Amino acid sequence: MIKVHGLRKKFKDLIVLDGIDIEVKQGETVAIIGPSGSGKSTLLRCLNLLEKPDEGHIQIGDIMLNAKKYSRKEANELRRQTAMVFQHYNLFKNKTALQNIIEPLLVSKKMKYDEAKKVGEALIEQVGLAHKADNYPITLSGGQQQRIGIARALAVQSHAILLDEPTSSLDPELVGEVLQVIKQIAEKQTTMIIVTHEMDFAREVADKVIFMADGHIVEQGTPTAVLDHPQNPRTKRFLQQSISLPEYSLV
Ligand SMILES: Nc1ncnc2c1ncn2[C@@H]1O[C@H](COP(=O)(O)OP(=O)(O)OP(=O)(O)O)[C@@H](O)[C@H]1O
Ligand SMILES: [Mg+2]
Repeated sequence: MIKVHGLRKKFKDLIVLDGIDIEVKQGETVAIIGPSGSGKSTLLRCLNLLEKPDEGHIQIGDIMLNAKKYSRKEANELRRQTAMVFQHYNLFKNKTALQNIIEPLLVSKKMKYDEAKKVGEALIEQVGLAHKADNYPITLSGGQQQRIGIARALAVQSHAILLDEPTSSLDPELVGEVLQVIKQIAEKQTTMIIVTHEMDFAREVADKVIFMADGHIVEQGTPTAVLDHPQNPRTKRFLQQSISLPEYSLV
């Protein structure tokens, strides 16, 4: 379970998170949508302290942290509760697909190589890339690299997975295969927060959708409530704009 209360973050004078409250139950998938610059990435980054929040309380699993005052030990414990998947795949170029997945098991979890390899092989199978286990990232498509990144996030068996626009740097034809993998993971009752622009995906997979603007949660609820029957004018406007984005055309 994830509970965030009163989370605030400023970059100099710019208020980026202005009192965020979130609750995610065990096994739930929450999709965060909102305009560029609304603080979505900063929120995810604050949850695992890649960015230092100024104020608020963060609870993930059994670990509770007061953003105003915490020890290094508490910070490390909180970080261990989540795994991140980024827009860019962040794979080690000099390691194979399988080595990339098992790296955190060997390094952070100090698992024996044979044991880690077994876990890694099961995960690479799960993301449909067993046949690419020995490939280096450069020989994988963007979608395949992202699926390896997701398998790596799953490997550490953290309390929750945080995904920041995992498909937005992919060519359109590769988006589907990655969303499919994320959907399968969601169906296995993995707790997930995913920032996404894929409204159809959010509608299909999320238990809850959160619309953020200017560092606030403007509206949240079931996908049907937020995406099909938004109450707030800002949510309505955002959804209209994201539907009516002009297609690129060479004609
Ligand atoms: N390290 C930083 N230093 C200063 N300002 C920052 C930093 N990171 C983010 N910001 C600012 O904070 C605001 C929120 O950024 P954030 O990346 O969280 O937005 P976002 O909702 O993820 O946007 P996008 O949809 O474009 O990814 C923006 O105005 C951004 O310029
Ligand atoms: Mg972002």
